[in-house]
Amino acid sequence: MRFDVLTIFPEMFSALTQWGVTGRACEQDLAQVKLWNPRDYSSDSRKTVDDRAYGGGPGMVMMVKPLEDTVNAIKTDHQAQNLSSGPVCLLAPQGERFSQKLASDLLKRSNLTLICGRYEAIDQRFVDRNVDLQISLGDFVVSGGEIPAMAIMDALIRLIPGALGDDESALQDSFMNGLLDYPHYTRPEVYETLSVPDVLLGGHHAKIADWRRQKSLELTLRIRPDLIELARANGLLSREDERFLQDLVK
Ligand SMILES: C[S@@+](CC[C@H](N)C(=O)[O-])C[C@H]1O[C@@H](n2cnc3c(N)ncnc32)[C@H](O)[C@@H]1O
Repeated sequence: MRFDVLTIFPEMFSALTQWGVTGRACEQDLAQVKLWNPRDYSSDSRKTVDDRAYGGGPGMVMMVKPLEDTVNAIKTDHQAQNLSSGPVCLLAPQGERFSQKLASDLLKRSNLTLICGRYEAIDQRFVDRNVDLQISLGDFVVSGGEIPAMAIMDALIRLIPGALGDDESALQDSFMNGLLDYPHYTRPEVYETLSVPDVLLGGHHAKIADWRRQKSLELTLRIRPDLIELARANGLLSREDERFLQDLVK
């Protein structure tokens, strides 16, 4: 999968492209990350990409032209590579809340263009004319779109077959089956006064699977009951799950 990222801080992306699971996926060419700096498309000698806001107020606004010229250059590059351009996504607190479901949907596209905002805002005319989808990482504000973009790219890259050592591990992650992940343990068997649950030591695979499922249900019901409702509505809960949940509630 290819990611085209518009950013005035391309160096930040080495955190994604050079480390861990995502670094390995880039190295193996499972993910391609191409960075585009709008300063390279600015027409003045100082490479300006921002200006003061009409109407006054604090902070600077990113200008339409360097951003739009960058997006056009990305699209031209797609054409040259015989790629059909995927959606242009703006990282924005106003956007759709990012989720595992949105990650799975976006993964169906062969490429994504991610626009990282900086400063106070982006000129709305750029957004209206060039952006297909706005994505938010949550109800908070960070200083730029780079960290949200990297979080989204990481969530997508780990779903690419071959990106994880064992493809099963992504399937077992929280949200993949609608529930939160169950608790995990490793050596030692006893740490100070704390023991690993007996069932995990017995080697009985069916019992371990049941215990993990029940812990997932229990944790999700306690911390995120909304996810239980959603899983129920999506037909992800079995009769045994429902029985277990009823007993828990009692
Ligand atoms: C300082 S913020 C601008 C915040 C803007 N004034 C507002 O209140 O909505 C600069 C950039 O960071 C990115 N950003 C900030 N918070 C974000 C979030 N929760 N999700 C995604 N991107 C975010 C956006 O790209 C935004 O253009």
